[in-house]
Amino acid sequence: MQLKDKVAIVTGGGAGVGQAIAIRYAEEGARVVVAEILSARGKSTADAIQKAGGEALFVQTDVSAEEQVKEMAQAAIRKFGHIDILVNNAAILLINEDTRAHELTTDTWDRTINTNLRGYWLCAKYTIPYMLQKGGGSIIFIASRTGMRGFARIAAYSASKGGVFALMRSMASDYARDGIRVNAIVPGTLDTPMNAEEFSDPEARNKYIPRIPAGRLGVATDIAGMAVFLASEESSFCIGGVYLVDGGADLG
Ligand SMILES: NC(=O)c1ccc[n+]([C@@H]2O[C@H](COP(=O)([O-])OP(=O)(O)OC[C@H]3O[C@@H](n4cnc5c(N)ncnc54)[C@H](O)[C@@H]3O)[C@@H](O)[C@H]2O)c1
Repeated sequence: MQLKDKVAIVTGGGAGVGQAIAIRYAEEGARVVVAEILSARGKSTADAIQKAGGEALFVQTDVSAEEQVKEMAQAAIRKFGHIDILVNNAAILLINEDTRAHELTTDTWDRTINTNLRGYWLCAKYTIPYMLQKGGGSIIFIASRTGMRGFARIAAYSASKGGVFALMRSMASDYARDGIRVNAIVPGTLDTPMNAEEFSDPEARNKYIPRIPAGRLGVATDIAGMAVFLASEESSFCIGGVYLVDGGADLG
């Protein structure tokens, strides 16, 4: 058990990568706060953890809403007493709205940036004071290659994910001497609810696979092992790092 006695918050823990990480963290002995905007999803992850004998708390949270994030961190403290790990994972890709810069609406831009970037910052802002009190912690940003390269026709998502890298590196410098390590995981293309609409078309699905040396799309559980490593003491010298988990997609 690599995370015994640790308390972890996983945002967007109701589906996809967040759900896989929340369940795996609980299997590794962590007590898990599932911070998720959709109640049914968040509850189902917390229930699954509890049924398997783990400890979990679901807190309905919109990560872009400051008061809700503040309350979520306080609820974690009330229930479990401290916070050791934050996984900033909740993000949106508004696939039918996100587009080229001059065609974007301010609403699409604002919703995307507010969830994907402001949300990561707010969750850090309201959990770091508790980590400082305890003398350390690990913050993991789920990033995207989109933020390194900027992909066509998703300008808002690309910008939000670019900001995630800069925020991660800035925070990694700022808190290293406080014992708080900040790192990023960069998943490849995953078969998760985020891509459900696109991958419901077998042709679209098949278009991606030849570009992935592993010969398949990723699945949410592919990301969980790296998230355990970065949360555990095994990664105690890893600070400000960017860790690809993409089946080799970055080679091409
Ligand atoms: N799916 C991919 O191919 C892919 C690739 C690279 C990076 N990523 C990144 O991985 C992370 C997880 O992606 P996923 O594919 O699991 O997504 P997903 O859409 O399958 O799951 C995201 C979860 O976050 C929740 N959520 C959305 N907005 C929220 C909010 N404001 N507050 C709280 N919860 C909210 C959703 O309800 C959902 O349960 C994201 O940061 C995403 O950008 C995904």
